[in-house]
Amino acid sequence: MKPAVLITKRIYPEAVDLLRSRFEVDYEATDDGMTAEQLRERIRGKQGVVSQLTDKFTRDVLATLEGIRVIANVAVGFDNVDVAAATEAGILVTNTPDVLTDTTADLAFALMLAAARRLVEGHHFVHSGEWKKWAIDLLVGQDVHHRTLGIVGLGRIGQAVARRAGGFSMRILYSDAFRASEQAERELKAEFVPLERLLGESDFVSIHVPLSAATRRLIGAEQLRLMKPTAILVNTSRGPVVDEGALAEALRGGVIGGAGLDVFEQEPKVHPGLLNQPRAVLAPHIGSASVETRRKMSMMAAENALAALEGRRPPNLLNPEAWERRSEKTA
Ligand code: DGY
Repeated sequence: MKPAVLITKRIYPEAVDLLRSRFEVDYEATDDGMTAEQLRERIRGKQGVVSQLTDKFTRDVLATLEGIRVIANVAVGFDNVDVAAATEAGILVTNTPDVLTDTTADLAFALMLAAARRLVEGHHFVHSGEWKKWAIDLLVGQDVHHRTLGIVGLGRIGQAVARRAGGFSMRILYSDAFRASEQAERELKAEFVPLERLLGESDFVSIHVPLSAATRRLIGAEQLRLMKPTAILVNTSRGPVVDEGALAEALRGGVIGGAGLDVFEQEPKVHPGLLNQPRAVLAPHIGSASVETRRKMSMMAAENALAALEGRRPPNLLNPEAWERRSEKTA
Protein backbone atom coordinates (compact mmCIF):
# COMPACT_ATOMS: atom_id res chain seq x y z
CA MET A 1 0.00 0.00 0.00
CA LYS A 2 1.22 3.50 -0.83
CA PRO A 3 2.11 5.70 2.17
CA ALA A 4 -0.43 8.44 2.90
CA VAL A 5 0.44 12.11 3.32
CA LEU A 6 -1.55 15.04 4.69
CA ILE A 7 -0.84 18.49 3.24
CA THR A 8 -2.32 20.79 5.87
CA LYS A 9 -2.71 23.96 3.78
CA ARG A 10 -2.39 25.28 0.27
CA ILE A 11 1.07 24.96 -1.33
CA TYR A 12 2.29 25.37 -4.92
CA PRO A 13 0.60 22.81 -7.21
CA GLU A 14 3.80 21.24 -8.55
CA ALA A 15 4.66 20.14 -5.01
CA VAL A 16 1.20 18.58 -4.62
CA ASP A 17 1.67 16.82 -7.99
CA LEU A 18 5.04 15.43 -6.90
CA LEU A 19 3.54 13.97 -3.74
CA ARG A 20 0.52 12.63 -5.62
CA SER A 21 2.81 10.83 -8.06
CA ARG A 22 4.06 8.60 -5.21
CA PHE A 23 1.59 8.70 -2.33
CA GLU A 24 -2.04 8.83 -1.32
CA VAL A 25 -2.49 12.53 -0.67
CA ASP A 26 -5.08 14.19 1.55
CA TYR A 27 -5.16 17.80 0.37
CA GLU A 28 -7.65 20.61 0.40
CA ALA A 29 -6.45 23.79 -1.28
CA THR A 30 -7.34 25.98 1.66
CA ASP A 31 -5.53 28.66 3.65
CA ASP A 32 -7.49 27.93 6.81
CA GLY A 33 -5.44 26.60 9.67
CA MET A 34 -6.37 23.52 11.71
CA THR A 35 -6.98 23.24 15.42
CA ALA A 36 -5.04 20.59 17.35
CA GLU A 37 -8.15 18.42 17.24
CA GLN A 38 -8.60 18.76 13.46
CA LEU A 39 -4.91 18.09 12.94
CA ARG A 40 -5.09 14.88 14.98
CA GLU A 41 -8.21 13.78 13.13
CA ARG A 42 -6.81 14.41 9.62
CA ILE A 43 -3.43 12.87 10.43
CA ARG A 44 -4.95 9.56 11.55
CA GLY A 45 -3.79 6.79 9.21
CA LYS A 46 -1.10 8.94 7.52
CA GLN A 47 2.65 8.44 7.49
CA GLY A 48 3.71 11.96 6.47
CA VAL A 49 2.60 15.56 6.99
CA VAL A 50 3.52 18.63 4.96
CA SER A 51 2.88 21.41 7.45
CA GLN A 52 3.10 25.17 7.77
CA LEU A 53 4.03 27.53 10.57
CA THR A 54 0.43 27.81 11.74
CA ASP A 55 0.22 24.06 12.49
CA LYS A 56 1.18 23.57 16.13
CA PHE A 57 2.88 20.24 16.81
CA THR A 58 3.14 20.47 20.58
CA ARG A 59 4.32 17.60 22.76
CA ASP A 60 0.66 16.84 23.51
CA VAL A 61 -0.32 16.69 19.84
CA LEU A 62 2.75 14.63 18.93
CA ALA A 63 1.98 12.14 21.71
CA THR A 64 -1.29 11.26 20.03
CA LEU A 65 0.08 10.74 16.50
CA GLU A 66 0.53 7.15 15.51
CA GLY A 67 2.48 5.97 12.52
CA ILE A 68 3.72 9.41 11.45
CA ARG A 69 7.28 9.20 10.11
CA VAL A 70 7.90 12.74 8.93
CA ILE A 71 6.74 16.32 9.47
CA ALA A 72 7.97 18.41 6.54
CA ASN A 73 7.51 22.08 7.46
CA VAL A 74 7.21 24.58 4.60
CA ALA A 75 9.33 27.22 6.42
CA VAL A 76 12.85 27.69 7.65
CA GLY A 77 11.52 28.46 11.15
CA PHE A 78 10.28 25.44 13.08
CA ASP A 79 9.14 26.87 16.40
CA ASN A 80 5.70 25.39 15.62
CA VAL A 81 7.12 21.88 16.11
CA ASP A 82 8.44 20.56 19.42
CA VAL A 83 11.46 18.94 17.78
CA ALA A 84 12.69 17.29 21.00
CA ALA A 85 9.30 15.61 21.47
CA ALA A 86 9.24 14.60 17.78
CA THR A 87 12.68 13.03 18.16
CA GLU A 88 11.51 11.07 21.19
CA ALA A 89 8.55 9.87 19.15
CA GLY A 90 10.90 8.87 16.29
CA ILE A 91 9.38 11.44 13.88
CA LEU A 92 11.71 13.11 11.40
CA VAL A 93 11.29 16.91 11.15
CA THR A 94 12.48 18.95 8.18
CA ASN A 95 12.48 22.63 7.15
CA THR A 96 13.25 24.72 4.05
CA PRO A 97 16.47 26.69 4.64
CA ASP A 98 18.64 28.65 2.16
CA VAL A 99 16.07 29.19 -0.61
CA LEU A 100 14.49 32.04 1.33
CA THR A 101 17.62 33.68 2.74
CA ASP A 102 18.01 36.45 0.15
CA THR A 103 14.28 36.97 -0.25
CA THR A 104 13.86 37.54 3.48
CA ALA A 105 16.94 39.78 3.64
CA ASP A 106 15.45 41.85 0.81
CA LEU A 107 12.29 42.38 2.84
CA ALA A 108 14.24 43.33 5.99
CA PHE A 109 16.01 45.95 3.93
CA ALA A 110 12.77 47.11 2.32
CA LEU A 111 11.23 47.62 5.78
CA MET A 112 14.30 49.50 6.95
CA LEU A 113 14.24 51.81 3.94
CA ALA A 114 10.47 52.27 4.07
CA ALA A 115 10.49 53.18 7.76
CA ALA A 116 13.53 55.45 7.47
CA ARG A 117 12.27 57.29 4.39
CA ARG A 118 8.62 57.35 5.48
CA LEU A 119 7.58 55.64 2.29
CA VAL A 120 4.19 54.39 3.51
CA GLU A 121 3.27 57.81 4.89
CA GLY A 122 4.25 59.28 1.52
CA HIS A 123 2.19 56.70 -0.33
CA HIS A 124 -0.93 57.58 1.68
CA PHE A 125 -0.21 61.29 1.32
CA VAL A 126 -0.21 61.05 -2.46
CA HIS A 127 -3.15 58.63 -2.74
CA SER A 128 -5.34 60.70 -0.43
CA GLY A 129 -4.81 63.85 -2.51
CA GLU A 130 -3.24 65.70 0.42
CA TRP A 131 -0.13 66.48 -1.66
CA LYS A 132 -0.63 70.08 -2.78
CA LYS A 133 2.90 71.49 -2.93
CA TRP A 134 6.55 70.62 -2.56
CA ALA A 135 8.10 71.77 0.72
CA ILE A 136 11.67 71.72 1.97
CA ASP A 137 10.80 69.51 4.94
CA LEU A 138 7.95 67.49 3.44
CA LEU A 139 8.10 63.98 4.96
CA VAL A 140 11.77 64.28 5.79
CA GLY A 141 13.14 61.04 7.16
CA GLN A 142 16.50 59.52 7.95
CA ASP A 143 19.40 58.44 5.81
CA VAL A 144 20.19 54.75 5.76
CA HIS A 145 23.56 54.98 4.02
CA HIS A 146 26.63 55.48 6.24
CA ARG A 147 24.60 54.81 9.41
CA THR A 148 25.09 52.01 11.94
CA LEU A 149 23.15 48.77 11.56
CA GLY A 150 22.87 46.36 14.47
CA ILE A 151 22.11 42.80 13.43
CA VAL A 152 20.73 40.57 16.17
CA GLY A 153 21.54 37.03 15.01
CA LEU A 154 24.20 36.70 12.32
CA GLY A 155 22.94 33.46 10.81
CA ARG A 156 22.19 32.96 7.12
CA ILE A 157 19.60 35.75 6.87
CA GLY A 158 21.50 38.11 9.20
CA GLN A 159 24.59 37.68 7.00
CA ALA A 160 22.58 38.36 3.85
CA VAL A 161 21.31 41.60 5.46
CA ALA A 162 24.91 42.51 6.35
CA ARG A 163 25.96 42.01 2.71
CA ARG A 164 23.22 44.40 1.59
CA ALA A 165 24.27 46.91 4.26
CA GLY A 166 27.79 46.85 2.81
CA GLY A 167 26.35 48.29 -0.39
CA PHE A 168 24.92 51.16 1.66
CA SER A 169 28.32 51.81 3.31
CA MET A 170 26.86 51.06 6.71
CA ARG A 171 28.84 50.28 9.85
CA ILE A 172 27.76 46.83 11.03
CA LEU A 173 27.53 45.59 14.61
CA TYR A 174 26.16 42.19 15.49
CA SER A 175 25.29 40.19 18.55
CA ASP A 176 24.58 36.50 18.72
CA ALA A 177 24.79 33.55 21.08
CA PHE A 178 27.87 32.44 19.13
CA ARG A 179 30.56 34.53 17.51
CA ALA A 180 30.91 34.20 13.73
CA SER A 181 34.20 33.03 12.20
CA GLU A 182 36.99 35.58 11.79
CA GLN A 183 36.65 35.19 8.04
CA ALA A 184 32.90 35.97 8.11
CA GLU A 185 33.49 39.00 10.35
CA ARG A 186 36.21 40.24 8.02
CA GLU A 187 34.18 39.69 4.85
CA LEU A 188 31.05 41.32 6.26
CA LYS A 189 32.99 43.99 8.15
CA ALA A 190 30.82 43.11 11.14
CA GLU A 191 31.87 43.79 14.71
CA PHE A 192 30.76 41.39 17.48
CA VAL A 193 29.37 43.34 20.45
CA PRO A 194 27.11 42.64 23.44
CA LEU A 195 23.41 43.23 22.75
CA GLU A 196 23.29 46.26 25.09
CA ARG A 197 26.06 48.01 23.16
CA LEU A 198 24.46 47.14 19.83
CA LEU A 199 21.15 48.64 20.96
CA GLY A 200 22.81 51.80 22.23
CA GLU A 201 24.94 52.47 19.15
CA SER A 202 22.74 51.40 16.24
CA ASP A 203 20.56 53.62 14.05
CA PHE A 204 18.81 50.49 12.79
CA VAL A 205 18.37 47.20 14.61
CA SER A 206 17.35 44.19 12.53
CA ILE A 207 16.38 40.94 14.23
CA HIS A 208 17.30 37.56 12.73
CA VAL A 209 17.18 35.04 15.56
CA PRO A 210 15.02 31.91 15.62
CA LEU A 211 12.28 31.83 18.25
CA SER A 212 13.29 29.76 21.29
CA ALA A 213 12.97 29.98 25.06
CA ALA A 214 16.15 32.08 25.04
CA THR A 215 14.93 34.58 22.43
CA ARG A 216 11.27 34.96 23.44
CA ARG A 217 10.79 38.66 24.29
CA LEU A 218 14.50 39.29 23.79
CA ILE A 219 13.51 42.89 23.02
CA GLY A 220 11.27 44.37 25.70
CA ALA A 221 10.81 47.75 27.38
CA GLU A 222 14.27 47.65 28.98
CA GLN A 223 16.04 46.93 25.68
CA LEU A 224 13.98 49.53 23.79
CA ARG A 225 15.03 52.15 26.35
CA LEU A 226 18.67 51.46 25.45
CA MET A 227 18.03 52.40 21.82
CA LYS A 228 18.48 55.87 20.31
CA PRO A 229 15.28 57.96 20.17
CA THR A 230 15.71 58.03 16.39
CA ALA A 231 16.49 54.32 15.98
CA ILE A 232 14.35 52.01 13.86
CA LEU A 233 13.63 48.40 14.86
CA VAL A 234 13.08 45.84 12.10
CA ASN A 235 11.74 42.37 12.78
CA THR A 236 11.42 39.70 10.09
CA SER A 237 12.14 36.74 12.38
CA ARG A 238 9.29 35.75 14.71
CA GLY A 239 6.85 38.09 16.47
CA PRO A 240 7.32 36.82 20.03
CA VAL A 241 11.01 37.85 19.96
CA VAL A 242 9.73 41.39 20.54
CA ASP A 243 7.33 42.43 23.31
CA GLU A 244 4.73 44.03 21.04
CA GLY A 245 3.00 45.98 23.82
CA ALA A 246 6.33 47.46 24.94
CA LEU A 247 7.17 48.34 21.34
CA ALA A 248 3.81 50.07 20.78
CA GLU A 249 4.40 52.06 23.96
CA ALA A 250 7.97 52.95 22.92
CA LEU A 251 6.76 54.23 19.55
CA ARG A 252 3.94 56.19 21.15
CA GLY A 253 6.27 57.78 23.71
CA GLY A 254 9.08 58.55 21.24
CA VAL A 255 11.48 56.15 22.99
CA ILE A 256 12.51 54.93 19.52
CA GLY A 257 11.98 56.50 16.10
CA GLY A 258 10.19 53.79 14.13
CA ALA A 259 9.67 50.14 13.34
CA GLY A 260 9.39 47.86 10.33
CA LEU A 261 7.58 44.66 11.25
CA ASP A 262 6.75 41.58 9.22
CA VAL A 263 5.95 39.30 12.15
CA PHE A 264 3.70 39.61 15.18
CA GLU A 265 3.12 37.89 18.49
CA GLN A 266 -0.33 36.50 17.66
CA GLU A 267 -0.65 36.55 13.90
CA PRO A 268 -2.82 37.63 12.22
CA LYS A 269 -3.70 39.82 15.21
CA VAL A 270 -1.64 42.98 15.59
CA HIS A 271 -1.34 44.97 18.82
CA PRO A 272 -3.83 47.88 18.54
CA GLY A 273 -1.07 50.31 19.55
CA LEU A 274 0.82 49.45 16.36
CA LEU A 275 -2.14 49.94 14.07
CA ASN A 276 -2.50 53.55 12.94
CA GLN A 277 0.98 54.29 14.28
CA PRO A 278 2.49 56.23 11.36
CA ARG A 279 6.05 55.33 12.34
CA ALA A 280 5.35 51.60 12.15
CA VAL A 281 5.56 50.00 8.71
CA LEU A 282 3.66 46.72 8.93
CA ALA A 283 3.65 43.71 6.60
CA PRO A 284 1.64 40.45 6.87
CA HIS A 285 4.49 37.92 7.35
CA ILE A 286 5.71 38.06 3.75
CA GLY A 287 9.46 37.79 4.36
CA SER A 288 9.86 34.83 2.00
CA ALA A 289 6.94 35.77 -0.24
CA SER A 290 8.33 35.92 -3.75
CA VAL A 291 6.79 33.57 -6.31
CA GLU A 292 10.09 31.80 -6.93
CA THR A 293 10.91 31.35 -3.27
CA ARG A 294 7.50 30.16 -2.12
CA ARG A 295 7.47 27.70 -5.02
CA LYS A 296 10.93 26.42 -4.06
CA MET A 297 9.87 26.12 -0.41
CA SER A 298 6.85 24.04 -1.41
CA MET A 299 9.00 21.74 -3.57
CA MET A 300 11.66 21.40 -0.89
CA ALA A 301 9.12 20.32 1.70
CA ALA A 302 7.62 17.81 -0.76
CA GLU A 303 11.08 16.42 -1.52
CA ASN A 304 11.88 16.14 2.17
CA ALA A 305 8.66 14.18 2.76
CA LEU A 306 9.35 12.03 -0.29
CA ALA A 307 12.85 11.11 0.87
CA ALA A 308 11.71 10.26 4.39
CA LEU A 309 8.84 8.07 3.21
CA GLU A 310 11.06 6.30 0.67
CA GLY A 311 13.58 5.46 3.40
CA ARG A 312 16.19 8.03 2.38
CA ARG A 313 17.62 10.65 4.75
CA PRO A 314 15.74 13.89 3.98
CA PRO A 315 18.04 16.68 2.74
CA ASN A 316 16.89 19.21 5.34
CA LEU A 317 16.63 17.07 8.42
CA LEU A 318 16.45 18.93 11.75
CA ASN A 319 16.71 15.95 14.07
CA PRO A 320 19.41 13.53 12.83
CA GLU A 321 19.07 11.66 16.15
CA ALA A 322 15.64 10.43 15.05
CA TRP A 323 17.14 9.23 11.76
CA GLU A 324 20.04 7.47 13.47
CA ARG A 325 17.69 5.75 15.88
CA ARG A 326 15.55 4.60 13.01
CA SER A 327 18.57 3.28 11.08
CA GLU A 328 19.74 1.37 14.16
CA LYS A 329 16.33 -0.29 14.40
CA THR A 330 16.37 -1.39 10.76
CA ALA A 331 20.08 -2.47 10.79
C1 DGY B 1 9.86 30.90 7.55
O1 DGY B 1 10.22 30.24 6.57
O2 DGY B 1 10.16 30.58 8.69
C2 DGY B 1 9.04 32.10 7.28
O3 DGY B 1 8.75 32.81 8.41
C3 DGY B 1 7.79 31.74 6.55
O4 DGY B 1 8.08 31.88 5.24
